[in-house]
Amino acid sequence: PELADAFIEEAVAYTREQVGDGKVLLALSGGVDSSVVAALLIKAIGKQLVCVHVNHGLMRKGESEQVIEVFQNQMDANLIYVDATDRFLDLLAGQADPETKRHIIGEEFIKVFDEEAAKLDGIGFLGQGTIYPDILESEAGVKAHHNVGGLPEELNWELVEPVKLLFKDEVRVVGKQLGLPDGMVYRQPFPGPGLGVRCTGAITRDRLAALREADAIVREEIEAAGLDIWQYFAVVPDMRATGVRDGQRAYEWPCIIRCINTVDVMTAEVPELDWALLKKITDRILGEVPGICRVLYDLSPKPIGTVEFE
Ligand code: XMP
Repeated sequence: PELADAFIEEAVAYTREQVGDGKVLLALSGGVDSSVVAALLIKAIGKQLVCVHVNHGLMRKGESEQVIEVFQNQMDANLIYVDATDRFLDLLAGQADPETKRHIIGEEFIKVFDEEAAKLDGIGFLGQGTIYPDILESEAGVKAHHNVGGLPEELNWELVEPVKLLFKDEVRVVGKQLGLPDGMVYRQPFPGPGLGVRCTGAITRDRLAALREADAIVREEIEAAGLDIWQYFAVVPDMRATGVRDGQRAYEWPCIIRCINTVDVMTAEVPELDWALLKKITDRILGEVPGICRVLYDLSPKPIGTVEFE
């Protein structure tokens, strides 16, 4: 904590010097890195920071609400909340190919963000949650990170990257010290395309809603059990299975529970969950989530199975 305080003090002073009386724009997803950068910049420059949170309709249950609660209500940030759910889901309707879906989500995200940016006057800087591993991986050619390599030339914005020399665990300590809630600081990784890659095939609103509820139950129960698992979530594939509900034939979706542990995400193992826990999650999903008539546990390690389904 003392080191974190020293870091925060230095980062605040450095940012004030860099930004002067300029304005900084930040895409705030609610993930660990962008949340910590937001909290740090709010401390450094207050209302000179403009945060934009784009809800693409593929967020987990309660996630966008938490961004508003923490940053707007508690930290009094300048936050622009864009509910672009309809835009994304309309574009995605009928699109079953995984790579096409990812492409649509990525492109539309940039479009929505650019539109919001164009409405603002006097932005001189772009805040980014780049962390040190992003830079290392990009340099080593492991993975191209969207936030490494600079900005498109037409944007005259200078980058503000206050945590770019920190590793993930250090970013978490700084976030905690800045008063962010544990649920935000210790959250599991969540892919940019969100629930979109876990609602396999062509996304429909009803199946997406079932996925969101089932996923919330998986998270709640695993957290309540106090388990330390890298990623744990639900997937609702684009298929149906026969069941019987209240004496009537049901033809509903299965829900797959996916849990993995990993060190470097290149390989991953499936933890042996306690049977009673699996049963509890199963009973809750079957009892509480309309449209789901079966629950399965995915036993596939990576490789061959990737973490995500698409
Ligand atoms: P896979 O499915 O490739 O996932 O085994 C490896 C890790 O990366 C996450 N993931 C993403 N993260 N944008 C992200 O920021 C993405 O498009 C994306 N796709 C997968 C996944 O959750 C896992 O942690």
